[in-house]
Amino acid sequence: MKQSLFILVALTIIIGLTVGSSATAQTKPTSLGVVLTNAYDAFGSEKKGLKHDFGFSTVVEYKGKTILFDAGTDAKVFESNLKSLKINLRKIDIAIVSHGHYDHIGGFDYLLSVNPKVKIYLPNDFFSLGAPIKFPFRETEPNVAKTLPKEMQYFGGESVVEGMLTVPTGRFWKSDVEYLTEAKEVLPGVTVIPTTSKLMGTFIKYPPFEENPQFIGMPELSLSLATEKGEIVISGCSHTTIETIVQETKKVRKGKIHLVVGGFHLIPYKREYIEGLAKRMKEEYEVESVAPAHCSGHLGFSIFQKVFGDKYRFFGLGERINL
Ligand SMILES: [Fe+2]
Repeated sequence: MKQSLFILVALTIIIGLTVGSSATAQTKPTSLGVVLTNAYDAFGSEKKGLKHDFGFSTVVEYKGKTILFDAGTDAKVFESNLKSLKINLRKIDIAIVSHGHYDHIGGFDYLLSVNPKVKIYLPNDFFSLGAPIKFPFRETEPNVAKTLPKEMQYFGGESVVEGMLTVPTGRFWKSDVEYLTEAKEVLPGVTVIPTTSKLMGTFIKYPPFEENPQFIGMPELSLSLATEKGEIVISGCSHTTIETIVQETKKVRKGKIHLVVGGFHLIPYKREYIEGLAKRMKEEYEVESVAPAHCSGHLGFSIFQKVFGDKYRFFGLGERINL
């Protein structure tokens, strides 16, 4: 009798906790007013209707606003994951593309099919993103244009001395986009942090750079949310390195960092580097907690979990971090 009573009490507690946590997670954030949902990833506990795939997307609910940060690889998988998570992209306020790689932008096809007018912030990487761009060019002898018959001049000679607006046919071609090269508070308390990866990018040797070829790193955007406990930093793939993103966020936001979540891009790195990085994140940059996802890698998950202990937040596909 005693035993069955114990089982009944235990079951009631378990059911209570399960129902309580999912209801809370889906309806109201706790004290900081932030809910993060991992909507696209290759790991996480099995959940009905969710499909694992390599890529990353996080839906951010912050003080009454909803933000899409990246959209994963496959628009169909993204759509179906969002439907299972009961997230409606028609209702989001803004979207952010962390960088131009396939595993972060594919799902924007789905976003734009249901919400084509949404404002999208892009890294300054117009060649790979195919979004409307004012394309600058300067000829070595700009006055020659005027000596040619009109039909030999670009656009009949209309205002192309400094460049022209090009609208490529592609994913973002009719979208409301803004390229960011400097940190910008895009909503109250929501700051986009641009950085540039020196590990990837574009190499230019065209004139006038034949003698001094230029390497332009790959631009990347991260997101920082202001809370009473410090900033919540969300990274896409951290090609710039998560360390540089944290440093840049501290420079821009000047406060302490409560949580760093997202792809840390540690798959190619050795144990020694990752251990040093995790310790620096904790001790030098005083990051309170971490939630590595996506390209952070198994070794990365394991080392960060060891270093951060109970301040490590599991953030697999379908998980909600409720702050
Ligand atoms: Fe990625």
